[in-house]
Amino acid sequence: MSPSKQTILVTGGCGYIGSHTALRLLESGYKVVVLDNLSNSSYESLRRVHKLYAAYAAAHPSSSAHEDAALSVENLIPFYKVDILDKAALATVFTAHPEISAVIHFAGRKAVGESGRIPLDYYNVNISGTVNLLQVMEEFNVRKIVFSSSATVYGNPPSIPIPETSPIVASMSPYGRTKVFLEHIIKDLCVASVLKQQEYLKQSSETRDNVNYEWSAVLLRYFNPAGAHPSGIMGEDPQGIPNNLMPFLSQVAVGKLEKLSVFGKDYPTEDGTCIRDYLHVVDLAQGHVAALAKMEQEQTEGQFGCSAYNLGTGTGYSVFDMVKAFNKAVGRELPFVVTERRAGDVPNLTADPRLANEALGWKAEKTLDEMCADLWRWQRNNPNGYNDA
Ligand code: WQD
Repeated sequence: MSPSKQTILVTGGCGYIGSHTALRLLESGYKVVVLDNLSNSSYESLRRVHKLYAAYAAAHPSSSAHEDAALSVENLIPFYKVDILDKAALATVFTAHPEISAVIHFAGRKAVGESGRIPLDYYNVNISGTVNLLQVMEEFNVRKIVFSSSATVYGNPPSIPIPETSPIVASMSPYGRTKVFLEHIIKDLCVASVLKQQEYLKQSSETRDNVNYEWSAVLLRYFNPAGAHPSGIMGEDPQGIPNNLMPFLSQVAVGKLEKLSVFGKDYPTEDGTCIRDYLHVVDLAQGHVAALAKMEQEQTEGQFGCSAYNLGTGTGYSVFDMVKAFNKAVGRELPFVVTERRAGDVPNLTADPRLANEALGWKAEKTLDEMCADLWRWQRNNPNGYNDA
């Protein structure tokens, strides 16, 4: 089926990665339905998606985009303020949209430090919420999911770069453990669904209901998403003081925060600071479109099951490298101080992205300078995020 006929439910679609992915899906010819409880995101992000999609349609008059670019935001992107813990509400979305063919599941809690203080909230929302979603999908015969996993499932990996075959460990935080458990849950579901389909096929053809019970799942292990849409009107909008390096730095740059604390300079790396694989959010969004396309292709070949892919660039940068690159984008030196290590940080998380390159035909294309320039454009134009709207 061509993408233009398919409708994708994006849970957490108002968030940072969700909104960029919703835009890439529309630009790629999919229809999109979004659900989000707006606990850590803003509906304004969908107005920006709508605006950017209209701009895309104007720039690509021969694509199918011009046909629906005139739609209102409400008609272009049906939105449901739904919490994944509310199973009945989840079901109403599938009832209203029987055309949903797959789900990209972003909704969940994601602050590592907070997860150590309120682990039960994290297990409840991430695990119970996702199990609810999977059950409702099963009920509505939608058995195709792309799941937001994380490089944190590798813990402190034995070697760098990290291939997908690196051991999945109990991770460093309750947040990380929710990702590990959810990977297992989704894999178990895929395995069980093969058996269910085999049983079903043993029934006589008169009693069969023409359902394929097999699940397809793609687990995307994100490295460190950063940057913003190059337009400067869509980006990350963290509530309160940011936990992550790049949003923190960008708030230092607009004067909302005084200086960056560099968490430790005694790691076994060249400059002593931790190394991460920072990935432009627009590249990351494209990774989801590539994963959906791969699942569709496999299904037409009769293949189902669960696969995991690293989404990273394959190049690691230290905290000091990132400060330097962001200083360059901003045009001045931002203040920092070196402090103690942060609990749970590991020295190096750099992806081996070859499997995603080969199997998904996906490769991160944006440079570090583009990532920093785009982040700075967003932060400078929207110092208070979507509250400036
Ligand atoms: C990067 C580096 C810090 C802040 C986490 C999650 C992961 C993913 C992305 C999210 C580290 C250093 C940071 C600061 C600093 N999940 N740092 N000063 O920890 O690699 O990954 O976010 O939803 O699952 O674990 O990202 O940006 O917090 O840190 O020196 O104020 O920057 O020590 O070396 P991390 P990060």
